Amino acid sequence: MGIKALGYVVIETAKPAEWDEFLVRFAGVMRVADAADGAALYRIDDRVFRFRIETGTREWFVAAGYEVSDRAALDALAEAVARAGRPMTWASAEVAAGRGAEAMFSTSDPAGNGLELYCGDARTAEPFVSPIGVPGFVTGAMGMGHAVFSAPNFDETIAFHRDVLGFHETDMPRFHLFGPDGPSMGFAFLHADNGRHHSIAFGEGPVPPSGAVHIMLELPTLIDVGKAHDRMKQFGYAESATLGRHVNDETTGFYVQTPGGFDLEIGCDSLVIDPASWVTTRHEAISVWGHEWAWQKAMKAAQGETA
Ligand SMILES: [Fe+2]
Repeated sequence: MGIKALGYVVIETAKPAEWDEFLVRFAGVMRVADAADGAALYRIDDRVFRFRIETGTREWFVAAGYEVSDRAALDALAEAVARAGRPMTWASAEVAAGRGAEAMFSTSDPAGNGLELYCGDARTAEPFVSPIGVPGFVTGAMGMGHAVFSAPNFDETIAFHRDVLGFHETDMPRFHLFGPDGPSMGFAFLHADNGRHHSIAFGEGPVPPSGAVHIMLELPTLIDVGKAHDRMKQFGYAESATLGRHVNDETTGFYVQTPGGFDLEIGCDSLVIDPASWVTTRHEAISVWGHEWAWQKAMKAAQGETA
């Protein structure tokens, strides 16, 4: 039992063409044939899709899909979720197959963040070919990357992910984002049963209007991250955080705003942990260097104007 990895994300948008441009020409992922229901699907490796973009009426992060080991584990998890008082809806066989899954149920955590749990990952023998020459993404047993959410009811939400879903604590810091004398904010970085430092994470605070804080994709080298940074500037996408290196997962990268309003973190050189022996840390800083956030720049500019 236990969660293996982040498998895919589901995003609703009223701007599918903007998402397509963002994913294909900026991120370099591979569009494949649309789903039977018309959703656009994109691959980053041998999984049948990693991004499912549904055309709708709003910009909304619908769900992060996490894979569990097998059907028995999925059934046990569905029972545990229902026992915990969260909604639990089994997908029809058609919907599950459309997710590249043998079986799937959807739920949400106590903050309302959308989740799908599934087993039986569908893979393809057709090679991944990036339309812009990205050499590949770091996935394998570590999954697609990670997803980061917000929770106003922080402790209750973390308890659900840890005690009901079976994620494990990696790093449980409190950060003083507004200076040492300002209020501190809880964060939780949780790993699944693989070497990625965190497959899901949470900040203490209201759920943003987009439904997520960010998702992260890992590239093989700093050269690939640098090229992605160049493309962000070339195509005029908004930089949410400048290049930098995180303390806890050691990822070097930057954040760009997606058409959905949440961010995409593009990084490399992420720490690989041994999930069996990891002891929870409590780091005191977010970044070793860099990562100047857009809101920090805006605050600085505002202070400059009023000074
Ligand atoms: Fe991240």
